[in-house]
Amino acid sequence: MLVVVKIGWKEADTARLSAVLKKALAGKVYETICTAAQFADFCRLSQQDKEGTAVVFALALSRRGITRSYLDMTACLLEYPDGLTGCAGAVITDGPGELFTKKISRELIFLANQSGCAFPGKPLVEATGSLYNFNTQAAVQRITPYEAYEASAVRLIQKVQHLTASFGSKRPLHLQVLLLHASSRQTSNTLLLWEMIRSRLNGKAAIEEISLRNGEVVDCRGCSYEACLHFGEKGECFYGGVMVDQVYPAIQASNVIVLACPNYNDAVSANMTAFFNRLTALFRKDGHTFSHKRVYALVVSGYSGGDIVAEQVLDAMNCNKNFILPEKFALIETANAPNSILRCSGIADRAAAMADRILAGW
Ligand SMILES: Cc1cc2nc3c(=O)[nH]c(=O)nc-3n(C[C@H](O)[C@H](O)[C@H](O)COP(=O)(O)O)c2cc1C
Repeated sequence: MLVVVKIGWKEADTARLSAVLKKALAGKVYETICTAAQFADFCRLSQQDKEGTAVVFALALSRRGITRSYLDMTACLLEYPDGLTGCAGAVITDGPGELFTKKISRELIFLANQSGCAFPGKPLVEATGSLYNFNTQAAVQRITPYEAYEASAVRLIQKVQHLTASFGSKRPLHLQVLLLHASSRQTSNTLLLWEMIRSRLNGKAAIEEISLRNGEVVDCRGCSYEACLHFGEKGECFYGGVMVDQVYPAIQASNVIVLACPNYNDAVSANMTAFFNRLTALFRKDGHTFSHKRVYALVVSGYSGGDIVAEQVLDAMNCNKNFILPEKFALIETANAPNSILRCSGIADRAAAMADRILAGW
């Protein structure tokens, strides 16, 4: 089943989005959801009735970005925490200006994912008012930015339908899990959370852990595209070190990547950011293989803001680097004093549920 969820269409100019969508949906059988009430009805369907549905969010933004309809639709996602379980999603966003397209789309992906929706790698086609963001693709393909937008939308809908078609064979035969972290074992709540999950994976998956310790992962140097490609093709990167010696081969060997992400100033830590940036060289060579690997995040904040950190991870790893975002990819907890995560109410059940999701596939 293919469902198109139109958000903001009565509050924005949708001429361009409408034309692109028409082209991307040509020849396909689909249902359209236009109101929050219809969306709530869909979220209330049994999981069996929704299993394998491709949900395309067609998001029209206003000059201010957000629309009333967006708030009403996302309220459904919060009201039905399993409302999209069994579905895979894609987002096509069209805005009149140069701002908000990424910010609002990424929040929508986060909220839909928390409601159980999986996303293929690169699940977002965003069109800024000027279409400047399509200039590079247009130049490479020798077409106009509008044609690049249209072609991206066509490919995205094909991709999400392909993902739902593979839902029956979700679990890889051999599960190879890679944990990346940058915390201290003596004090880390995030690593304690991982230990709870790991104890349930032991014996059912091969597990490798790598520490991206302070100062060991130098941030990206910003080489030219050609230089980055040159290093990437040899499985290297300008700086070498732990990224090239340990992390690249471990990513290549794994099919599940778990990132332990404490909240540092309402952001992922500098070590984790350096990891995202330095992954670019391997992405140039192996990006197509990333589309078969799942990413999970364990986010622990001392006070608040875990949603911001989780959105950064999904933006970097799913929207940019092409990894699959499996349903409920992030486990988000609050704990400050060392070991205090062990006293969070219901933590053992949530860790067990995360381990079960990792073992089940997407
Ligand atoms: C440099 C630094 C910045 C932090 N910034 C925040 C913050 O902005 N918001 C917050 O809720 N907690 C913040 N914390 C608290 C950590 O998120 C929290 O203690 C977390 O459990 C630390 O991760 P760990 O247990 O893996 O060491 C910060 C901690 C550090 C060390």
